[in-house]
Amino acid sequence: MVERPIAAISMIDMRPEDLPEVLSIERVSFSTPWSAILFMNEIYKPLSVSKVVRSKGEIVGYICADQVLDEGHILNVTVHPEHRRRGVAMQMVTHVIGLLAERACKTIFLEVRMSNHAALRMYEKSGFKMVTIRKQYYAAPEEDAAIMKLDIS
Ligand SMILES: CC(C)(COP(=O)(O)OP(=O)(O)OC[C@H]1O[C@@H](n2cnc3c(N)ncnc32)[C@H](O)[C@@H]1OP(=O)(O)O)[C@@H](O)C(=O)NCCC(=O)NCCS
Repeated sequence: MVERPIAAISMIDMRPEDLPEVLSIERVSFSTPWSAILFMNEIYKPLSVSKVVRSKGEIVGYICADQVLDEGHILNVTVHPEHRRRGVAMQMVTHVIGLLAERACKTIFLEVRMSNHAALRMYEKSGFKMVTIRKQYYAAPEEDAAIMKLDIS
């Protein structure tokens, strides 16, 4: 039986050898999944934050964010379908907000599909507020994006 909340997780930097597991979660989670090259860019980009969460040795979630001056940007938050609703995303987002705050970020932005109620709710619970809607931001399927913002300071 899967316990909730998830027990004994560790959050560590994403490495190239994590990509097979990360990509298999990515492919079942998105209609336009990120490629290995996109993840490699995040792993090696100087101001990027890319973390995986492991439980009992397996990757159960990952998060990518980056920073430009005092502005953070959450780029990807994904949890393995079998481990959702166990607080993994909230733990990853909270951790990354803390890291970006330590680096003197004042605001964090992200975008999310308007139909993605799970993600919208999770980000709201993490303190983000919707600030605007970007029309036809996404393709396959075409959809508007909610732009969400968190003020840190
Ligand atoms: C969105 C996603 C990352 C949430 O991950 P998660 O680990 O299941 O989220 P958490 O367990 O931390 O949930 C935190 C809160 O968000 C809300 N939430 C999460 N999933 C939800 C769902 N399916 N329906 C409604 N609310 C949901 C709830 O308020 C939840 O708190 P609760 O469980 O105490 O009620 C996950 O569903 C996922 O990987 N989806 C596919 C990828 C994706 O859409 N990523 C975001 C792209 S911007």
